[in-house]
Amino acid sequence: MEYKNLLTKKGDGIGWITIHRPEKLNALNVETVLELRSAFLEFQDDSEVRVVILTGSGEKAFIAGADISQFLGLDEAGAKEYAQRGQDVTALIENSKKPVIAAINGYALGGGTEFALACHIRIASENAKMGQPEVKLGLIPGYGGTQRLARLVGKGKALELILSGRTIDAKEAFEIGLVNRVVPLAELAAACGKLAQEIIANAPLALQYSIQAVNEGLDQSLQDGLQTEASLFGRTFASEDSQEGTKAFLEKRKANFKGK
Ligand code: COA
Repeated sequence: MEYKNLLTKKGDGIGWITIHRPEKLNALNVETVLELRSAFLEFQDDSEVRVVILTGSGEKAFIAGADISQFLGLDEAGAKEYAQRGQDVTALIENSKKPVIAAINGYALGGGTEFALACHIRIASENAKMGQPEVKLGLIPGYGGTQRLARLVGKGKALELILSGRTIDAKEAFEIGLVNRVVPLAELAAACGKLAQEIIANAPLALQYSIQAVNEGLDQSLQDGLQTEASLFGRTFASEDSQEGTKAFLEKRKANFKGK
């Protein structure tokens, strides 16, 4: 499908989604958020795509936030709807059965940090800058930042970032656990591609159930989370791939997974 504000491509099992509004530092207007929804749904249904990588166009920005020009004139109900629209897409990413990697290639502010938080793994370039500056506009994060940031880096660090609105560099983002790794900008795409291939070598259903177990477990007590894990562990044994994976190990050969 053709998009106005996104570039998509696929190859070697990877679906690339690049937000392409470089003149606005890839800020997310409503149209782009809806296009992101369509692009993620498209790749969910595409059997050639095993891992999705989300990034921004150009060398300056991943996503410089929600498009602030669209905030003018929003009333309370309209703003709530605005937040929920973005939250729907971040939830779609977070609960995707295919792993999603954020390749953070520059500014990831406000909605940029929030979309990165919804991805399963974050790799940042050395020039990346992250933060939740909404309070500087008299707002609060609305695409999941108050919830996912606290879950990822802890309440104290999350509140420091959200209350100060401070922008942090890639090094600090790594130190607080906001990103998994930092690489030179020129190596970002290759680093994400390499990680994607490591993931693609594994059984698709095992990847899906791993994401589900981690996501569901984080909303449960430890005891309930362990039940969730045990059920999904059991379910993997009903898959052909678990038979293939264990047989391949014992026969000292590479597994040939089919996603069944
Ligand atoms: N919404 C709308 N437009 C945005 C934007 C956003 N979040 N972020 C950047 N832009 C636009 C700028 O208005 C500018 O457009 P123009 O050339 O038509 O004036 C263009 O993108 C380039 O941005 P500019 O500010 O000139 O680049 P810079 O290098 O001087 O600064 C930033 C970069 C990211 C520090 C700065 O653009 C910024 O603070 N953006 C807003 C970040 C933010 O608060 N995001 C959270 C929103 S809730």
